[in-house]
Amino acid sequence: MYIIVKNNFQIRTTCFEGFKSMKAALVSTKLHHLYRNLIWRSFSTKFAMANSKFEYVRNFETDDRCLPNTWIVVRVDGRGFHKFSEKHEFAKPNDKRSLDLMGKAAGRVMTEFKEICLAYGQSDEFSFVFKRDMDLHKRRASKLMTSVASIFTSAFVFHWPQFFDIPLKYPPSFDGRVVLYPSTQNLRDYLSWRQADCHINNLYNTAFWTLVLKGNLTNAEVISLKVL
Ligand code: GTP
Ligand code: MG
Repeated sequence: MYIIVKNNFQIRTTCFEGFKSMKAALVSTKLHHLYRNLIWRSFSTKFAMANSKFEYVRNFETDDRCLPNTWIVVRVDGRGFHKFSEKHEFAKPNDKRSLDLMGKAAGRVMTEFKEICLAYGQSDEFSFVFKRDMDLHKRRASKLMTSVASIFTSAFVFHWPQFFDIPLKYPPSFDGRVVLYPSTQNLRDYLSWRQADCHINNLYNTAFWTLVLKGNLTNAEVISLKVL
């Protein structure tokens, strides 16, 4: 059992093995009074099983099943990748190692979910399209989104050494969102939108970094040109 305590200044993690050491754990972490009732209640709830007086809390869980017969798109996006790319010395404007690693992580997600029929990625993002008639996880948005983001992130970290010589300086993470598209035309337009975004950003970044790296201008000078 783990007890993690966070106050304004630090996070303290304590690991205790086994049920018998639980009391010692609580006393040692000085959370005896605060957590005693909560933890004993959770244990007794297990014994009481269903229909206990605590059962009602399940009703607070919202039903987030995606509408049937719609295309489900899950898009993951690197959190704070502007800083992450700087810290890990990504080449500008495009780092092939990073793009290949993103592709590898996306491949892992697609291996895990046979229900995904298409994926499209650029920069620090990847979109995954689920088959329209699939019923995985009862189409629950939170389950699909968190599973994709979690598998993608762990694969990104797992395969990092295959693509980069330098070690990770801190754990990267990806957020996720779910968007539903009712028609195939909507889905096509979504993918066109992401591709246009890729095109515009690449055009800008390529011009910007060429002026900086080969034209010997500073970032501020390029911005002040106001031609981009
Ligand atoms: P949030 O997603 O809101 O957390 O912000 P972010 O910092 O991740 O920025 P955003 O997702 O809008 O854009 C991705 C950023 O990652 C780009 O602006 C770049 O700074 C960086 N990035 C992604 N791919 C590359 C790459 O191949 N090379 C370099 N140098 N930077 C990259
Ligand atoms: Mg990002």
